Amino acid sequence: MKSRLVLACLMPTDVVARARAEFDAVVAEGPADMTVPEVTRAATDHRADAIMFTNTLPLDGPAIGGLPDSVRIGATSSVGYDHIDVPAAKARGLVVTNTPGVLTECTADHAVMMLLAAARRAGEYDRIMRQGWRYRIGQGDLLGIRVTGKTLGILGMGRIGQAVAQRARGFDMRIVYHARNRLPPELERGAEYFSDFHAMLPHCEFLSLHAPAGPATDRIVDARALALLPKGAILVNVSRGGLVDEDALYDALTSGHVFAAGLDVFRAEPDFDLRFAELDNVILSPHVGSASRETRNAMGFRALDNIAGVLSGKGPIDPLWQ
Ligand code: 8YV
Repeated sequence: MKSRLVLACLMPTDVVARARAEFDAVVAEGPADMTVPEVTRAATDHRADAIMFTNTLPLDGPAIGGLPDSVRIGATSSVGYDHIDVPAAKARGLVVTNTPGVLTECTADHAVMMLLAAARRAGEYDRIMRQGWRYRIGQGDLLGIRVTGKTLGILGMGRIGQAVAQRARGFDMRIVYHARNRLPPELERGAEYFSDFHAMLPHCEFLSLHAPAGPATDRIVDARALALLPKGAILVNVSRGGLVDEDALYDALTSGHVFAAGLDVFRAEPDFDLRFAELDNVILSPHVGSASRETRNAMGFRALDNIAGVLSGKGPIDPLWQ
C-alpha cells in the first residue's frame, strides 16, 4: 500500500507525476497553493502520512497543532524555513526537512542577474524599447554604474553567498562579507571578513543579502545601515524581504543615496509595497530565485526523497534538526 501524501503547493509536472506514482497523493490543483485550512482538511480527510509544501504555507504553531496525528513529516520545497515554527514542530514530534544545496547555483545566478540589471538599468532600457524608442539618447544619458572591479558586500556567507562571491570574482570584484562566523580560508577564497556588519557597509558599492530571515536579521538593512553605504550603492535582495526596512529603502532610493535595487523578495508577498513598482531605479522579480526548470524539479524531487526516507524508516536526508 502506498503512503498518503498531501502535495500542498503547485509543482512542476515531473514532480507531480513522481508524487502520484510513488504516493497515494492529494495534489493542489490551483489556482494557488493550498492554504492552512485546506491543508488541514486534506491531511485529515486523506489520513495523510506526509505533507509537502513551500514557503507559501505558514506552518506556525496552530497550523502544526491542526494536523492530524497521522502526519509524520512536513517537507518544504525550499531552503528557507522561516515559515515554519520549528519549536512547535519539535514538540509535536513532526519531522521537518528542507532542500538545501540543490538551489544554490540558480539562486546565485538570479542575484547576479539582479545586480547587473540594477547597475546597468536593464528594466529602464527594456521599457524604452517596448515603447518604440525612436529618439536620440545622448552619450551622457541613461548611464548605469560599472560593475567590474567594484566592491561587493555579502551579508550571509552560506552556500548561496559563497556562490555569489564565486561569480563576482569573474567581474574582478573585491569581496567583503559579514556572517555570524568567519569561513575557513579555503571557503573564504580571499573574501574579507567583517565581524561587524555596520563596519563593512561603507566599503560596499554593492550589497547582496543572503542571510536567513529571523529575529537576528529582521530589518537589519534599516535607515542606519543604508546611510552607511557609500552614496550611489546598489542593493540586491534575493533572500527574504524581512531583512529590509522597506520604508527606509524607499527613502534611500528616492533620495538617490542608493542608486538602484534589485528586489526578488518582499516583506509582504505577493502583496508587495507597490511604491517600488513606481521607481525606475528598481528591478523587480516575484520571488523566483530558484525558478529554473532544472532546479524546481531538483527541489521537488529532493522533498519527495526526504518524505520517502522518513516513511520508509531510513530517515530524512535534510532534517532541520537531528
Ligand atoms: C522559494 C526560496 O522557496 O528556497 C527558498 O528558501 O526562497 C525559494 O526557493 C521558492 O522559490 C518557492 O517560492
